Amino acid sequence: MKIRLRRTNESDLDFVLGAEQSAENRIFIGAWTREQHRVAFDAKDLSHLIIETIEGKPVGYVILAGLADANESIEFRRIVITEKNQGYGKQALRQIKKLAFEELKAHRLWLDVKEENARARHIYKAEGFVAEGVLRDCLKIENGYESLFVMSMLRDEYESRFINKQPSLRIAAPEDAEEIAAVLAESFAEHESSYTAKAYAATVPTVDEIKQRFGEEKIWVALSSDEIVGTVSIIDKNKALYIRSMAILPEARGNRIGERLLKEIENYAVACNYQKLSLNTTPFLKRAIRLYKKFGFVRRGAGDLFGTPLLTMEKSLKSAAKFKREMKK
Ligand SMILES: CC(C)(COP(=O)(O)OP(=O)(O)OC[C@H]1O[C@@H](n2cnc3c(N)ncnc32)[C@H](O)[C@@H]1OP(=O)(O)O)[C@@H](O)C(=O)NCCC(=O)NCCS
Repeated sequence: MKIRLRRTNESDLDFVLGAEQSAENRIFIGAWTREQHRVAFDAKDLSHLIIETIEGKPVGYVILAGLADANESIEFRRIVITEKNQGYGKQALRQIKKLAFEELKAHRLWLDVKEENARARHIYKAEGFVAEGVLRDCLKIENGYESLFVMSMLRDEYESRFINKQPSLRIAAPEDAEEIAAVLAESFAEHESSYTAKAYAATVPTVDEIKQRFGEEKIWVALSSDEIVGTVSIIDKNKALYIRSMAILPEARGNRIGERLLKEIENYAVACNYQKLSLNTTPFLKRAIRLYKKFGFVRRGAGDLFGTPLLTMEKSLKSAAKFKREMKK
């Protein structure tokens, strides 16, 4: 369900042309030749991107234009999603806004959309684009004329609505399983080569495995702009609260989400009278170890997960529980 954007290359052209020329899409968008797409790959003013799932399956493409525009006005020229009504379009729009305003430093992101393209107009409006006006009957078609709606978003609208917002935390539900699996996969991907294959598979569970966890575990998620950017789960283990599957997406790191998730767990553990928190990590997850140490975890021993070294860390909650009891007196 989660998607990412990457640059289009020669080997994607059959997919792009197939999507562009299919009957359900071509009534709503312009069409280019193979050569026009190819030229766009290297054009300074354009960005040609494939929209793909985390597993690398292409589900659409997008073209941005006006990257070198002196007015800092970037045109969102074309988007096609091949697997419709699964949320890919809205997710892609969020990433495009982020790219345009945060990386390309646009002042304005604009697009035009055919008046009768109700689905596209719906997602643009839902994602905060404002209607500027209608270019009435500006397109000549076989049996008449069509109008275009011009829509845009300005930098301050993007900033006030979408950034500088602290991610919110909540308890996860089984419907979140797919996104949680994607967050785990994306967050651990950079370390895959340090794990044995079996240990990596155990670290990055499948959607079904996550769904099964809901019976016995409590899972938290952190959300930013309605998207899950972090997760952690807990399970009761020998009178300790065992923490596992903690992950924050690379782009969401550095915002203290990890600390907030741990604090949430600690509050829960204290309320339930647990004596300690425990977890296993691996020696190469240095950033995570730093966070655990900062939060009061100490090393307790070493182990092994299918040939990958493990490090056990614990935090005693006795003092915290006692403190809470005293405060209640
Ligand atoms: C427009 C397009 C990019 C949207 O992508 P998508 O992945 O299908 O969109 P999502 O699944 O994220 O969202 C679809 C939304 O449209 C709504 N929708 C579906 N059909 C609709 C219709 N006929 N009228 C109004 N809304 C409609 C869905 O309910 C959903 O909204 P919700 O999440 O608020 O319930 C895609 O359908 C597409 O490629 N269309 C053909 C090419 C095109 O039109 N490109 C845009 C040119 S401007």
